[in-house]
Amino acid sequence: MFKQTLKLFRNMSSAAKGSNMLKDPSTKYIPYKTVDLPDRRWPNNRITKAPRWLTTDLRDGNQSLPDPMSIPEKKEYFRKLVELGFKEIEVAFPSASQTDFDFTRYAVENAPDDVSIQVLTQSREHLIRRTVESVKGAKKATVHVYLATSDLFRDVVFNMSRQDVIDKSVETTRFLRSLTKDDPNMQDTEWTYEFSPETFSDTPVDFALEVCEAVKREWEPTAEVPLIFNLPATVEVGPPNVYADQIEYFCRNISEREKVCVSVHPHNDRGCGVAAAELGVMAGADRVEGCLFGNGERTGNVDLVTLALNLYTQGISPNLDFSDMQSVIDVVERCNKIPIHARTPYGGSLVVCAFSGSHQDAIKKGFVKAEERMARGDTKWAIPYLPLDPKDIGRTYEAVIRVNSQSGKGGAAWVILRCMGLDLPRPLQVAFSGLVQAKADSLGRELKTAEITNLFKECYMCSEAAPISLSSFEVTSVKDASSPTKSRRIAATIVVNGKQEEIVGYGNGPVSAFVDAISNKVNILFEVVNYNEHSLGTGTEGKAATYIELSYLDENKAKTTQWGCGIDSDTSQASLEAILAIANKVIEKGEL
Ligand code: KIV
Ligand code: ZN
Repeated sequence: MFKQTLKLFRNMSSAAKGSNMLKDPSTKYIPYKTVDLPDRRWPNNRITKAPRWLTTDLRDGNQSLPDPMSIPEKKEYFRKLVELGFKEIEVAFPSASQTDFDFTRYAVENAPDDVSIQVLTQSREHLIRRTVESVKGAKKATVHVYLATSDLFRDVVFNMSRQDVIDKSVETTRFLRSLTKDDPNMQDTEWTYEFSPETFSDTPVDFALEVCEAVKREWEPTAEVPLIFNLPATVEVGPPNVYADQIEYFCRNISEREKVCVSVHPHNDRGCGVAAAELGVMAGADRVEGCLFGNGERTGNVDLVTLALNLYTQGISPNLDFSDMQSVIDVVERCNKIPIHARTPYGGSLVVCAFSGSHQDAIKKGFVKAEERMARGDTKWAIPYLPLDPKDIGRTYEAVIRVNSQSGKGGAAWVILRCMGLDLPRPLQVAFSGLVQAKADSLGRELKTAEITNLFKECYMCSEAAPISLSSFEVTSVKDASSPTKSRRIAATIVVNGKQEEIVGYGNGPVSAFVDAISNKVNILFEVVNYNEHSLGTGTEGKAATYIELSYLDENKAKTTQWGCGIDSDTSQASLEAILAIANKVIEKGEL
């Protein structure tokens, strides 16, 4: 028999080698079935509160790992889940291995009183017995039993009729009941029963209902401790609207709805797990099962981080705290040994970053407007391209705008503003962005923040190693000045290649007088084209930043300009530093 199966499998694989995708895939694949629900209500519903969450990272997630977690890893993960605020945690499949049994004991002994420890078991007596044993003494325990109900699984995997499935579900429920809520020695625990008609999304919904009604009759739940019916998309076989129809149909037709908690458990085979969960909740589900960042069998379970933060960005508290997103990523990556993709919603390293110039510009403008709104007491978040304030999940604004050769003036200007407190005038932003782009292009990669700030200093500020530096200066009024543009005299002591020199110049203020003095010194006529100044923010001890653009004729006698920037507590000193930075740059370029 085994040999025959192997031969068949080999034949199928060799046929597959020769052929590629079918011209007519309808000869091979069967489309999903729909539910007859013309008066569906879910499309008009809104989610207004967080559902109950069940994390199955330590069970469904762990079962799917190439290298399942060790006990220390499971403990670390468990602590993180508790810290995040999960109140229902599926910790293991205790009857499957000693490791899972032992970890369940740890979870039972260490769970806070308000956290329910959930364990999964197949519908077999000896496994159920061992499973119940594993949670003995828990304050709150949920025993989760599953049995596949789809035609495919009944026929192919279990060879069971519909009646067999109903009988087995009832029998299992009766047995579990006798070991838990009906056992006088087990009354210290609040027992919850979860029953999953596995492969629900591929099961005719009337049959799933029939099974669940039979289970409910046997368990006799109360409104205080409802019976959980988990309706899994074990394999996501159809679009999320069809799953929502199935959930709404179930919710509208199950009897004693108040004694039932409807849970959804979407897997992500078609990439619609999050949509399926959200539409499922709109359709009436009370609870969602999934894993952090969508770990789980095949394409994963639904991503609980995305679901929670989708609610949060709608102004609804998810009752889970992702303030320190990085620590969550660290634990998940370390324990699962699978990296979180850079584009994963909310958590991915690149999702709060903008590289494109127009995006950066819009974000920068958004922050300026937001500050104005904040000053008027309006705290609402409205920043282009950023649905979530990165600060809320522990990310800094510096990380938002990153600079590569695709970035425009806004990106580099943002980095300089955030890191140096310098609010560059627009023409300087344009000039600097050209240099940044050229550098990013030549390196063929993104520039780090420090590389951008260093480039700015190199290009526009005086350095220790510059040929000319300023020692001191004195500005005096010129009596009887024949021209109003020469009403001030500056006498400055500069150091040129280590030697002190006095220079003198005239103008209508310190800036023009020093430009005159430097022009005479280096024998090139500089003229002021642009002048801007602003005080630096708090924590910079009342300093001012000055930006000056000077024009001059280069070695080919073509008119060109150069920017300089100076920072000092004295505005005049800052301006002279900016002018010297320009002169030094021109000297370094060899244009003198
Ligand atoms: O995906 C699934 O159907 C499951 C069951 C055990 C609920 O994980
Ligand atoms: Zn699952």
